[in-house]
Amino acid sequence: MRVLVVGASGFLGGEVCRRASDAGWSVVGTCHSGDITAPGVEARRLDVTDRAAVRALVADVRPDAVVSTPYRYDDWTVTADGAAHVAVAAAKVGARLVHVSSDALHGGRPSPYADDEPPSPVNAYGAAKAAAETAVRVVDPGAALVRTSLILGEGSKQIQLCREALAGRGALFTDMIRCPVDVTDLADAVLELADSTYAGLLNVAGADAVSRAELGLLVAERFDLDAAGLKTTTSAAAGVPGPGDVRLDSTRAAGLLGTRLRGVREFLAR
Ligand SMILES: NC(=O)c1ccc[n+]([C@@H]2O[C@H](COP(=O)([O-])OP(=O)(O)OC[C@H]3O[C@@H](n4cnc5c(N)ncnc54)[C@H](OP(=O)(O)O)[C@@H]3O)[C@@H](O)[C@H]2O)c1
Repeated sequence: MRVLVVGASGFLGGEVCRRASDAGWSVVGTCHSGDITAPGVEARRLDVTDRAAVRALVADVRPDAVVSTPYRYDDWTVTADGAAHVAVAAAKVGARLVHVSSDALHGGRPSPYADDEPPSPVNAYGAAKAAAETAVRVVDPGAALVRTSLILGEGSKQIQLCREALAGRGALFTDMIRCPVDVTDLADAVLELADSTYAGLLNVAGADAVSRAELGLLVAERFDLDAAGLKTTTSAAAGVPGPGDVRLDSTRAAGLLGTRLRGVREFLAR
């Protein structure tokens, strides 16, 4: 199997590369401003906003499968247009596509979201991820679209945020609820999907729903940090726009995939 990981310099993309390489796949990875640290990866530089460059690279690599991860939180061109460019290029060479989407395209509500629910974005990032999905589904109805939640693991931004708050720098929200997933579980699920024919949307997130404040306490316990000084607030009080309660129901993925999607209470347990 020859896989092209677009965004191999990123947190998830890097883990996908490591695990694909360990499994004996031939792995080509792209980076933009960063570098690829995963061993055994043929590295290429790529700007996904450059449609012609994306087509040329994918045509040159001729992968069996493409895993598409790039995004920039505040850049529509990368998140939405870039995803469309990757989908068009993959379809052109007949490659299987796994596109990584986000729970951020939901508006938030107390009940869990099923796999096929339409987006209801409440900020620009969510809208860009929704637009990316729309483009991918139109270009390649056979693609797998993975909606995921906070991605945790060694060196993840989310763990770092918790560590900062535990050190007294910043506060964690009690009203922002997510279903964090371990990066290794997510990478394994993505690779399983790359080697499958699953078409359409799929929630791939952890089994436990926790607030960011609860996540901070789990991180404190995991890394033996003092939680006494942890400050909490609400996103409403802090004036942070974005969805509050977004729980992804990953029951379908749990039945479909061999990879077990552990809950955060399990994978952060010591
Ligand atoms: N992190 C989370 O908690 C989370 C939650 C839900 C969904 N997701 C989704 O999961 C995916 C991966 O997230 P992540 O945390 O692994 O992201 P990340 O670590 O920030 O990596 C982003 C990747 O996008 C690449 N990129 C940015 N601009 C680019 C451009 N113009 N052209 C080509 N590549 C470009 C970056 O390359 P360089 O670094 O080389 O510039 C990097 O490889 C994203 O689609 C995100 O929406 C993430």
